[in-house]
Amino acid sequence: MKDASPQTVYLSDYKPFGWHIADVHLTVRLDPTATRVRSRIRFEPTPGAEHPEFFLHGEDLRLISASIDGAPVTPELTAEGLRCAVPEGAFTWEAEVEIAPAENFALEGLYMSNGMYCTQCEAEGFRKISYYPDRPDVMATFTVRIEGDERVKLSNGNPVASGEGWAEWHDPWPKPAYLFALVAGDLVNHPGSFTTASGKEVELNIWVRPGDEGKCAWGMESLIASMKWDEEVYGREYDLDIFNIVAVDDFNMGAMENKGLNIFNSSCVLASPETSTDANFERIEAIIAHEYFHNWTGNRITCRDWFQLCLKEGLTVYRDSQFTSDMRSAEVKRIGDVIDLRARQFPEDQGPLSHPVRPESFQEINNFYTATVYEKGAEVIGMLKRLVGDEAYAKALDLYFDRHDGQACTIEDWLQVFEDATGRDLAQFKRWYSQSGTPHLKVSETFEDGIYTLTFTQETPPTPGQPDKLPQVLPIAVGLLNPNGDEVVPTTVLEMTEATQSFAFEGLSAKPVPSILRGFSAPVVLDRETSADEKRFLLAHDTDAFNRWEASRDLGRECLVDMIIQGSEPDLAWIDALGEVVRDDALDPAFRAMMLALPTQAELAQLLHSRDITPDPDAIHAASEALRDAMAQRWASVLPEIADKMWVDAPFDPGAEQAGKRSLGGAILALRTRLDGGAAAQTQFDAADNMTLQLGALSCLIRAGAEDKALAAFRKQWSGDRLVMDKWFALQVAATEPANAAARAEALTKLPDFDWKNPNRFRAVFGSLAMNHAGFHRADGSGYRLLADWLIKLDEKNPQTTARMCSVFQTWKRYDAGRQALMKEQLERIAARPGLSRDVTEMVTRLLS
Ligand code: ARG
Ligand code: ZN
Repeated sequence: MKDASPQTVYLSDYKPFGWHIADVHLTVRLDPTATRVRSRIRFEPTPGAEHPEFFLHGEDLRLISASIDGAPVTPELTAEGLRCAVPEGAFTWEAEVEIAPAENFALEGLYMSNGMYCTQCEAEGFRKISYYPDRPDVMATFTVRIEGDERVKLSNGNPVASGEGWAEWHDPWPKPAYLFALVAGDLVNHPGSFTTASGKEVELNIWVRPGDEGKCAWGMESLIASMKWDEEVYGREYDLDIFNIVAVDDFNMGAMENKGLNIFNSSCVLASPETSTDANFERIEAIIAHEYFHNWTGNRITCRDWFQLCLKEGLTVYRDSQFTSDMRSAEVKRIGDVIDLRARQFPEDQGPLSHPVRPESFQEINNFYTATVYEKGAEVIGMLKRLVGDEAYAKALDLYFDRHDGQACTIEDWLQVFEDATGRDLAQFKRWYSQSGTPHLKVSETFEDGIYTLTFTQETPPTPGQPDKLPQVLPIAVGLLNPNGDEVVPTTVLEMTEATQSFAFEGLSAKPVPSILRGFSAPVVLDRETSADEKRFLLAHDTDAFNRWEASRDLGRECLVDMIIQGSEPDLAWIDALGEVVRDDALDPAFRAMMLALPTQAELAQLLHSRDITPDPDAIHAASEALRDAMAQRWASVLPEIADKMWVDAPFDPGAEQAGKRSLGGAILALRTRLDGGAAAQTQFDAADNMTLQLGALSCLIRAGAEDKALAAFRKQWSGDRLVMDKWFALQVAATEPANAAARAEALTKLPDFDWKNPNRFRAVFGSLAMNHAGFHRADGSGYRLLADWLIKLDEKNPQTTARMCSVFQTWKRYDAGRQALMKEQLERIAARPGLSRDVTEMVTRLLS
């Protein structure tokens, strides 16, 4: 094996770099297989620091020459970089290397995508471009000269000068190498502009391949809205003359916040009504905002080392969720975020990959761009804000930007700012960053002499490397309703710090009904035994939209559990109560659509497992289907009428209002399809003039097994559009009968346009296979085998995307002995591959441990 025992990096081993870099000059002469990169860097010893040896990172580089102060040197080359003897004082380092971007399928460093050059340097990609101290605490200004015949040549900062075959850029803001970017190609731009609050004119561009110009307007609108929002809400202005966004088809992640030159997976920026769903539009708006917000939370203030990743990611996710809440419905955004947290972060936190929001060790940092670091990291910020209040939060953020602008910081710096701004001691709160696992919260209640007392107990189960847990600070938002449904105590945040703690409410005339953990005020599992009556009461009366949704979700969950383990009939009382809400025209259609979504099958598997019941994926699937059938039958007479009301008779607009209507309309169509075999869906498919309606209808037709005609028509219509074809690939696997899922995925891999080296296409097929819960977990193991075959194949080209996909096995110990053995066999088969990447080695080792 290439990396039989990959090295582990520890947070506790942090040492500052011994030199300061004043300025970096790069000259890049582009060529697909022989790009030359020359660097000139002035190193100055940091006063007082020790500099034992001079080491520069470098991987897959062919060193052509190196010199110090003009005199040639011969450094010692290793697999990770180079060592060289250097003078005591300041010196100028110059080197030239050769690289082959056209042969770079890992999509890290400089690579080619559809004929264009682009880069991805976070986390450790710059070392594949040039020898450099590739660590986030080394910040420098960059001047970059690009030489090549491409029409468009871009880098960070502001354009300085250009001529025939060259262009030069200068970025005046010191930055770590992970924020470096370079793009070159025959691109076209969608222009825009923005005037900052202090009157500075900023040129904006979205650069795309010719043919995609018509899909940029929404991205531009979202960018302008983000720039405005960050000024208004956080007082943050943009700080360069130009801001460029580039769309790239081959990209491992969603997007990257390189200074002044954001690079996006084309699926996260290109949109048009015909080719993109409402969900795409919302996601694009959020990701554009996220990357833009990084300009302050990430770029101006960056991370000292990669263990501090949540410093920029947790905060920036939190900021983009605030933005979406302001642009759309805050309640609906919150519910969506919690669904996502439970679907992606909870399984991570409750399985073999569990790690703290700030990990303490890693082998491959790319494996820690996780739901825990991002989404739980954002939840931690939300809790902090809830505890200190909005005003103190704003004060602390101002202090953060003031105190740390231009620095590479730690979580300690971040918390210190809050302590200084509020006078609070955050020592216990800090456990949120170091303790992994999801806390479980139990609740009991008493009512006596007008005093209502809630007693909470918190407990966090053991996680890898952390057998014992200490109590965490939990902000528990509670409201009390009296028996007639009026709210007697409005939302109050209880601050729980002990393992067990009671809170009393006085002066109540009757025993109230509590609404606990409103707005999902802390990322915990709430274990509370309550009657179905009480949940129905909350469903009808709670003033907190999240808990209203949660009450119904709970009822649905329990109904499904009873159906799964006892073969019970569907809970008609719940279906009727839910029907009231779904029909209530006073409520936001987007909220009503979310009320209709049942818990996912993976979520049910997790729930059963937590109750010591071995989940049977087939039984879970059957119960979910039966419940949906029952809902459709029970509401048969009202479905067409709701569908009619959701019909949008206006030009397409991706905003919340129309999107909400289409979302409820789509949920209703799915139910109707259970009654009419797909007739209404076919009608919608034939008439659709936007992708939300077209894809929604296609999904119904696949579920009804009536898709042949529509699938062929769809393929014919969209064969020239990569992003739409990703949907075509994905939906067939995600929505098909579980019995066919693996076979269908395999058949798709045989098509000529299954370009498996493209991460979007690979994920379209295999991400969807994993989403088809009962299909992936077929008892014969065909799903596991197929995926493992392809993971092995992809790892040779693209370790990062392969490693991310390995996490679909993270729940393997939940299932029966037969399935466990089958999954273990595949994980061991992957682990045994000669030449397995460091990324995948780390993942399968953790999964098997
Ligand atoms: N910083 C990017 C973001 O906005 C993520 C890039 C991560 N890329 C990677 N290869 N690990 O979330
Ligand atoms: Zn980010």
